Order: sequence, then C-alpha cells, then structure tokens
Amino acid sequence: MKKARLIVETDFSLATVDPRLFGSFIEHLGRAVYEGIYEPGHPTSDEKGFRQDVLKLVRDIDVPIVRYPGGNFVSGYNWEDGVGPVKDRPRRMELAWRSIEDNSFGTNEFMDWCRQAKTAPMLAVNLGTKGPEEARQLVEYCNHPGGTTLSDLRKAHGWRDPHNVKLWCLGNEMDGPWQIGHKSAQEYARTAHEAAKVMKWVDPSIELVACGSSNSSMSTFGSYELAVLDECYRDIDYISLHSYYGNPDGDTANFLARSMNMDAFIKSVAAMCDAIQGKLHAKKKVHLSFDEWNVWFHSGKQDAELPSWTQAPPMLEDVYTHEDAVLVGLMLITMLKNADRVKIACLAQLVNVIAPIMTEKGGAAWVQSIYWPFLQASRYGRGTVMQGILRAPLSDTKDFMDVPVVDAVVVRNDESGEVTVFAANRDLSESVVFETELRGFGPMKVLEHAVLASEDIHAFNTKENPDRVKPAAGHAVFEGNLLAASLPKCSWNMIRLAKA
Ligand code: AHR
Repeated sequence: MKKARLIVETDFSLATVDPRLFGSFIEHLGRAVYEGIYEPGHPTSDEKGFRQDVLKLVRDIDVPIVRYPGGNFVSGYNWEDGVGPVKDRPRRMELAWRSIEDNSFGTNEFMDWCRQAKTAPMLAVNLGTKGPEEARQLVEYCNHPGGTTLSDLRKAHGWRDPHNVKLWCLGNEMDGPWQIGHKSAQEYARTAHEAAKVMKWVDPSIELVACGSSNSSMSTFGSYELAVLDECYRDIDYISLHSYYGNPDGDTANFLARSMNMDAFIKSVAAMCDAIQGKLHAKKKVHLSFDEWNVWFHSGKQDAELPSWTQAPPMLEDVYTHEDAVLVGLMLITMLKNADRVKIACLAQLVNVIAPIMTEKGGAAWVQSIYWPFLQASRYGRGTVMQGILRAPLSDTKDFMDVPVVDAVVVRNDESGEVTVFAANRDLSESVVFETELRGFGPMKVLEHAVLASEDIHAFNTKENPDRVKPAAGHAVFEGNLLAASLPKCSWNMIRLAKA
C-alpha cells in the first residue's frame, strides 16, 4: 500500500490566509444573474427578486467577495445602462456571449444582493469599449458620498449611502483576442495606468487589480505581465491570473495533475512581480489575484448549438463529476500553499454558469460536487497556513513529471487552536495511508474527518438526486503527534482537530 507523510512544525508558518481567497464570481452570462441569483416571481424570491434558496446556499459557503459584472461581458458594458428606473433601461445585443441583455439587474441591485449574501463586491470596469473616464465615473457613482453629479445621481436612484466598493478590476482578460477591445500589452498597460490614476484620485482607499494573462498557455504569457507591471507597478495592488482545466480525453491521472500547472503559473507570476519590484526599487509588494479558476469543459458542445440573441440562455452549464471535485480540492490546496502571494481568488462562477450552485427556473436549487471542497476550505481553511514537508510517491502523467500521489496542506485557526488538514489522493486504484506529523502542537483530538470518495469518478448530482456526490465520515485517528488516515482512491479529505 502506498504511504505519504506531511510534517509540520508549530513555529513554521507560511502566511495568514486572506479570507478573500474564497471569493467567487457572478457575470452577466447565461443564467448566472437571470434565473440564478435574480428571479422575480420565483416562490422563494423577496420583493427585490432575489432567490432566497440560492442566497442560503451562497451564505453557507461564506464567500467574502464576489466579482461582477464580468468577465468578457464587462468589456462591452455601459454601466449607465444598468442604473436608474428599470423601465427606462435599454435592451442591448450583448456581443461577448451573443445574448440579449435587458439590464433589469445592474450595479445597485448587485450591491443590495451582496448585502443579503453577506459578501463584498469586487467590481470590474470596462477597458474594452470604454476607458479611464468611464471607469472614474463609476467610482464616483459608487463611492463618493454626495454633492457631485454622479454621486447625487446614485442618491436620486434610491441609494443614499455610498456603496464603498474597495476592490476594482482594471478590465478583464485584455490579452485575449476574443476580448471586445483586446489590447496589446503596451496598449493595455497605458490604459490601465491612466484608469488607475484617476480612479484612485476619486477614491484613494480603493485597491486595484490589473489584468495579467488569461492562462499560462497564452503566447504572450510573461511578456504581458512584465509590460503591465513595468508601467503600472506603483498604481496597482494585485495582478490577475485565470485558469480553467478540463478532461476532454478522459485521462484522469493527467487531469488531476493539472493543479501543478496552477502552482507553476502562480510561482512564475510572483517571480515577475518581484523582478519588477527590484527593477523599480519599489517598497511595495504586488500580490496575486487568481480571480477566475475552475474546471470548465463539459458544456462546450451543447453551447455550440444554442441559438444567439436570447436572454439568459443556458450557457456554460457544466455538470460536475466526482473527479472534478477532487481537482477543485487540489486547486484549493494549491492556492492555500501559495497564500503568501495569492491574496484573492474567485471560483468562477457561482450560480448556473460553471458553478457549484444550480437552479431551475421557478423551481429547485441544488449543489454540484464541487460545492463541497469549496465549502470546507472556505469554512475551515482560514487562519495560518503551516509550512509543510510532504513525502509522497511520485509518478509521471502525459503532461507532468513527478506528480505526488497525495497533495495536502495544514491550516491552524489561531483563535480556536483548531487545526485542519486538507488532503487529496490522486491514485485512481488504491487508497493511500496518509500521516501528518504535527510537531509541537500538543495533544489533539479528531473533531471530524470528511471524505469525498466515490466508486464512480463520473458520478454527479442532479435536481432529482442532489446528494449523490457529498462528503461522508472517515476514520482518521490521532496518537502521540501523529494523525493517520486512509485516503480512499481519487478522494478529497478534510480532517479537523482540536486541542485535547
Ligand atoms: O468565466 C467565463 C469566462 O471565462 C469569462 O467571461 C472570461 O473572463 C473567461 O474567459
């Protein structure tokens, strides 16, 4: 039987986890907004049209930030279309997703929804068809207390108090030729610099995220980041990374190794930030915002058959399997292990569109397999990430060398003294004996071992069978300073310990 061991020592910590690592994303895309979070007339909706069944599932995963309104959508969006009396709002051809946008939901509705969801907004500005001036105006509309045209307009629209949006994205995936208003690195860097300057002049308390690459396979990956950092280093607080992974050819061993690509991507971008910091003799460190990440590939064929120019088409409705949840868990472990550099991350997306939560128009809401690792990491992965030494058998896959059979991380909650171990077994045919040596932590007891395992790696949840993939109880034991657990084949595990 294979064995793996993780060693942590109480004095060796890596970083405090920024809670925003467990953010998510709502785009005007498919049924994310309409029929997702917002459905006037749904039996659970309140007077604002917010589905309360969805809000409960969102609150349960405790997302501290939600990115909005896009995504590719934002690069053609006029924010003015989505404010003011709903009856006067324009019905537009939305070019990014070839849909109809009636703008009945906009910035102010999103702010109200965030309050109910107990989350904070992360707003993206349009640097595709618009520019620094429109971005500046949106900051004024949202954040200025009053006494100017745009802040008074917000008041006239019914929102007396400023929204105080703290976190802003300077456009979206501007390196991608598919983006409306796609820009070369130099073009984007100049625009982002000018936008950042005036946005911060309006509200110096905001934090800004500049676009990096849409994924690490882009031919401009590296040169794009370096050019943007060179021009904008002093203006920005974070640079963004995006990555989606899929398993279209059914090579699950290779698929489960893809979190190693995420790890390498993070380390490269962090190194680029540090190189420019050195070059510019800058005091400040720019950190990373992994503001789109997930599995995405299931829905491709069915989306190609959808008709264009409909409102809320069922696009990007990936149905997630057990193996997808294990990779999502591995990606969460990867981000926690890089918590010294990744301060913000957004699971893309939140409802219906490549999402942990699904809804039926007029009907039920249920959770997909990927909901569970996200919920557990979000609830119990906050505190201090411990430096760990991991010893595990290695193997090669089609695209990766030296893939450890187990990946794992330990997070200590400094207030409660609780310790949580997250671990995934990539082996597709065997369980692995996994030991965590907790040096200097004192006597502890196991509070919970939750295991996501399945005989069928392709099992998934549906409205009719929403509990097919969900965690069950495992049998971890703690003795001396050793936590021992059997990790079933292809599984995600969370083990929580408290002081004995
Ligand atoms: O999340 C779906 C899309 O993926 C986003 O709109 C875009 O930013 C990315 O390419």
